[in-house]
Amino acid sequence: DKGNHRHFMEKEIHEQPEVISHTLAHYLDFTNGTCRQLDLPFDFAAINRLAISACGTAYLAGLIGKYWFERHARLPVDIDIASEFRYREMPLSKDDAALFISQSGETADTLASLRYCRKAGMKIGAVVNVRESTIARESDVTLPTLAGPEIGVASTKAFTCQLSVLAALSVRAARARGAISAEQEKALVRQLSEAPRLATQVLKLDTEIEKLARELGKYKHVLYLGRDTNFPLAMEGALKLKEISYIHAEGYAAGELKHGPIALIDEKMPVIVIAPHDRIFEKTVSNMQEVAARGGKIILITDREGAARSTVDTLATIVLPDVPDIISPIIYALPIQMLAYYTAVFMGTDVDQPRNLAKSVTVE
Ligand code: F6R
Repeated sequence: DKGNHRHFMEKEIHEQPEVISHTLAHYLDFTNGTCRQLDLPFDFAAINRLAISACGTAYLAGLIGKYWFERHARLPVDIDIASEFRYREMPLSKDDAALFISQSGETADTLASLRYCRKAGMKIGAVVNVRESTIARESDVTLPTLAGPEIGVASTKAFTCQLSVLAALSVRAARARGAISAEQEKALVRQLSEAPRLATQVLKLDTEIEKLARELGKYKHVLYLGRDTNFPLAMEGALKLKEISYIHAEGYAAGELKHGPIALIDEKMPVIVIAPHDRIFEKTVSNMQEVAARGGKIILITDREGAARSTVDTLATIVLPDVPDIISPIIYALPIQMLAYYTAVFMGTDVDQPRNLAKSVTVE
């Protein structure tokens, strides 16, 4: 049931404050400001590496997870696309752990990667949305996303719930490894608790984003740029746009602009820059100047400070509320989903059932 929404995707985008809240509450105790005890088959303090593997949007969630585990917990993470992981013949240690991320819990390559790690004697965790799925069944521990059923083929709420689980787990790992104090844990848990409220605020930008989508729909190619966790988000933005609007889009690390994609920039290729005002914001501003100097049109997604400090003319600037670093990818995912959604609606495509795609990819 779509309720009063035009598409499941729109409904699922709007469910995010609630499902993020449920998911976070499953892993975090907001009253005490601590991570809940989890019955993990491995000890975060004892492993040297964590291998994460998944497909598509779930892979991009894992990539953001890598930034968090390495930053907060000082835990090195190998992240792979599952179809590469299963054939890559990398060394694996049975003393390390593997994490698989899947909305459906049935993705063929992700499942094959899981079995591959199992054979290598590794302990296995699975971040899944469908709890009675094969991947959930075959893992040592299921780390559920509480997104509820996701019907739209393009993943939205499952993605932000995957991020919620990974963020919470990274804090848990950080504490277990002695990388943060109890005080720091409390601060991070408090910051995470703000995600649902901030997500609700961002959803109110729908009219503004819908208007912008009517502009974006006029182009054939779009480039997304971001640094740090906004780099995986840039790829997620591009993936979402191409899947449902069929507009060609690419996501790049902003620092890679000079190493190739800048050759594509002209007035026919808008550039969507995801850049909250953080410690590397100025670097991204230089990239925007390079784009502007070549006639590229910029859509900047930032916060108040970023909007004030950016010195380039933009086609549009979407200003989000100030958000703590740890929840920034969760909150910045929303305008990106909304932009893809409204662009697809404007283009008149079948938003919930885009051509050639299946919700669950059970063959290689
Ligand atoms: C993109 C999308 C796909 C899935 C991918 C993995 O919007 O939905 O890229 O993320 O097929 O699916 P799961 O998470 O079910 O393993």
